[in-house]
Amino acid sequence: MSQVEAVREALSKVQDPELHRSLTELGMVESIDIDGGTARVTVLLTISGCPMQDRLREDITKAVLEVDGLSAIDLTFGAMSQEQRDKVKSIVRGGRDKVIPFAQAGSLTRVIGVASGKGGVGKSSLTANLAVAAANKGLRVGILDADVYGHSIPRLMGLIGVRPTAIDQMFIPPVAFGVKVVSMEMFKPERADAVAYRGPLLHRVLEQLLSDAHWGDLDLLLLDLPPGTGDLAISLAQLIPTSEIIVVTTPQIAAAEVAERAGRIAHQMHQRVLGVIENMSAFPCPKCGEEISLFGSGGGEETSKVLSQLVGADVPLLGKVAFSPELRSGGDDGHPVVSLETESASARAINEIVEKLVVRPKSLLGVRLGISS
Ligand SMILES: Nc1ncnc2c1ncn2[C@@H]1O[C@H](COP(=O)(O)OP(=O)(O)O)[C@@H](O)[C@H]1O
Ligand SMILES: [Mg+2]
Repeated sequence: MSQVEAVREALSKVQDPELHRSLTELGMVESIDIDGGTARVTVLLTISGCPMQDRLREDITKAVLEVDGLSAIDLTFGAMSQEQRDKVKSIVRGGRDKVIPFAQAGSLTRVIGVASGKGGVGKSSLTANLAVAAANKGLRVGILDADVYGHSIPRLMGLIGVRPTAIDQMFIPPVAFGVKVVSMEMFKPERADAVAYRGPLLHRVLEQLLSDAHWGDLDLLLLDLPPGTGDLAISLAQLIPTSEIIVVTTPQIAAAEVAERAGRIAHQMHQRVLGVIENMSAFPCPKCGEEISLFGSGGGEETSKVLSQLVGADVPLLGKVAFSPELRSGGDDGHPVVSLETESASARAINEIVEKLVVRPKSLLGVRLGISS
């Protein structure tokens, strides 16, 4: 093997840190010349000013210097042409055109929308924690923050201000706590900018976030839906007909009535309603241990009962997550309680719900997830 070939071989073992494909496969290696003990290498970046440049330089240098007879590297970064970028996108998408991968026949990703009748019931907090808990169990998990008006997932996941790396339209979801996260917030010029979309545009935004993100292989995608029975829930059902729904409610009976409506829409759209989670349930007084039902009681059971009657099948109460200051503060600090206070009652309750949702503890790639309840 010539030294040029040996360097190419070494570079074929270096991966793009975000696309997780080898530099040679992606066509990033522009040229290799050997000059005495020095390898002159030009590598093309998919985007100029790639944030991963330092990491790449390190990995490339290490790999090349392992080649026999080479003692130095002269590495230059260049930028890809449009045509080269198009090729990268096509490779990464497995040759397919832009599609929603989860809507394709044979998709192994379970897509679950987290819905609620009204805002403030803890839907986003639960979405974040369920995702992190599932990732902790070895699943490959993504969150799509589809609550375009009230997106709170970036804060909950400690990703405020983080912008995804983009190759033209395609972008790579940032990862936090092992979860790939996409939120409308990541595309706003200013955090404080309001997002105001009418239904049809909203549908397109959801479609784009689903198809333009390079999700990779996922076992589970959770969508934090806007509260209520709005356009977006319907769009989800249309875009991914196999998607399922979890309904979140507080223990208040009044809240339960509103929550049912979210389940009702899902049922009308032929989506499976997986179950109900009651959030902000009774918690023991830290001083005397007496149960305090801050938000009343019975809402979870009531929602489960009414939805079961509606769909003519069991819509179980998947669990109750108690009112919990650590869940609240974990959210504010961007450290989901399941990753921080793993032994707290709320973290345990969330882990138990995830257990019910997914049967197998390891990555389920290649296996469609079953339901145990
Ligand atoms: N189990 C809980 N215990 C205490 N506070 C909670 C709990 N769940 C959510 N919260 C708090 O309630 C507020 C609303 O939660 P959020 O997840 O944003 O609700 P939604 O997405 O339904 O609007 C947040 O301040 C959150 O920290
Ligand atoms: Mg929310």
